[in-house]
Amino acid sequence: MKIALLGGGGFRTPYVYHGLLGSRITTDELVLHDLEPQRLDRIARVLRGMARERGSEIPFATTTDLEQAVEGADVVLCAVRPGGLRGRAADERIPIRFGVLGQETVGPGGICYALRTIPVLMRMAEVVARRAPRAWFINFTNPVGMVTEALWPALGDRLIGICDGPSVLFHHVARTLERPVDGLWFDYFGLNHLGWLQSVRGEDEDLLPGLLADQERLETVPEGRMFDGDWLRTLGMIPNQYLYYYYSAPESVAATLEAGQTRGEYLLQQQTGFYQQCPEDSCEALGGWQATARQREETYMQDALVLHAPNGDACPVPVMGQVGGYEAVALAVIEALAMNSRAIMVLNVANRSSLPFLDPQAVVEVPCIVGAAGVVPIAIGEVPGHARALIEIVKEVERTTIRAALTNSRPLAVQAIADHPVVPSVAVASQIFAAYLEAIPELRERFA
Ligand code: G6P
Ligand code: MN
Repeated sequence: MKIALLGGGGFRTPYVYHGLLGSRITTDELVLHDLEPQRLDRIARVLRGMARERGSEIPFATTTDLEQAVEGADVVLCAVRPGGLRGRAADERIPIRFGVLGQETVGPGGICYALRTIPVLMRMAEVVARRAPRAWFINFTNPVGMVTEALWPALGDRLIGICDGPSVLFHHVARTLERPVDGLWFDYFGLNHLGWLQSVRGEDEDLLPGLLADQERLETVPEGRMFDGDWLRTLGMIPNQYLYYYYSAPESVAATLEAGQTRGEYLLQQQTGFYQQCPEDSCEALGGWQATARQREETYMQDALVLHAPNGDACPVPVMGQVGGYEAVALAVIEALAMNSRAIMVLNVANRSSLPFLDPQAVVEVPCIVGAAGVVPIAIGEVPGHARALIEIVKEVERTTIRAALTNSRPLAVQAIADHPVVPSVAVASQIFAAYLEAIPELRERFA
């Protein structure tokens, strides 16, 4: 099988390579595509170190030519970041100046990221549709929900949006319940970065009410300590980590102000340091990457975890990593497609009628059956009213954002921001958008 990884110079590429090295599928050809050759070079050194450490390798090529990268590919993995971490830093910092949530994918930050990203991805998707019409297009590019929905008309059901959040949550819950994750049924529904786990079934009973009732055990689930325990018992569900940014938006702003740095600003500094190193020795190249990755994982969503930890202690339970995040989901999807295993995974696909209150084309994040014929979402049915209401408004915001991105419409961009639940007024929305235009020249040109 030929696999093309778009954004191959990205920091998470070694996770995918590691997954491929341990996978049952045979990779005949792996091509890493990126716009920046220096980034490809830095990552290539890490992969060589990984192959050397493992004593086995998957040969790979690097290129800056998109057409060549995707030509005849069976699988295209897409994990790009138009505007880089500098763009992310602006997306997150500007709303904070107005006292509004500043986050990569939620609120104004996610909308601005989507406005920058969707046109770029539409052009990439067009190349893939032409040069690799049979390829599965697996999208990691954030905001995954909006990007996947925007690309759906171009790629149809060869397109799959993925996020590690739900499966990481399931692993955390299974670990606390001391049950193998594969033996449990996780009744999870929502949109990307906006979902809830509403029951966990073993052979017979629902294990979630017992877990919610036991505060001490609940706090061993990282998602269980991001939220107030009584609130979780009121909901009767465990939300996706990203609900923190809806339920505690002002607290998140306060935490960012106290830290003096947004996540994007922190990563910009950390990653610039990493890409500046270019060790000759491949083991050293791998070591540098591993140390940076560990640091990145350990600081992930610290604001949310520290806030709700007992005694204000930092959370000793890692949120990501270890339990198989990014690489595990990507590899599981590729294997299920290639081996027709009909595995069940939470993915982003067109709704059909999984969430009956949304139309069939709306991209949702729900458990799906994955096999050689593609990805079919399972029926969820009705959900609690508060979740439905939030999903409906955010889906509306997503669609307004997509229309704004495709037509370069200023009023639609302001409306998308104003309609978002974390934004307090139309005036603030319009000031935030004006500040984005001032800070980001590429956006200014398009929305002139
Ligand atoms: C999780 C989310 C991704 C997001 C990432 C951010 O993995 O599912 O969608 O991009 O966290 O992590 P970072 O280290 O970049 O803050
Ligand atoms: Mn995600």
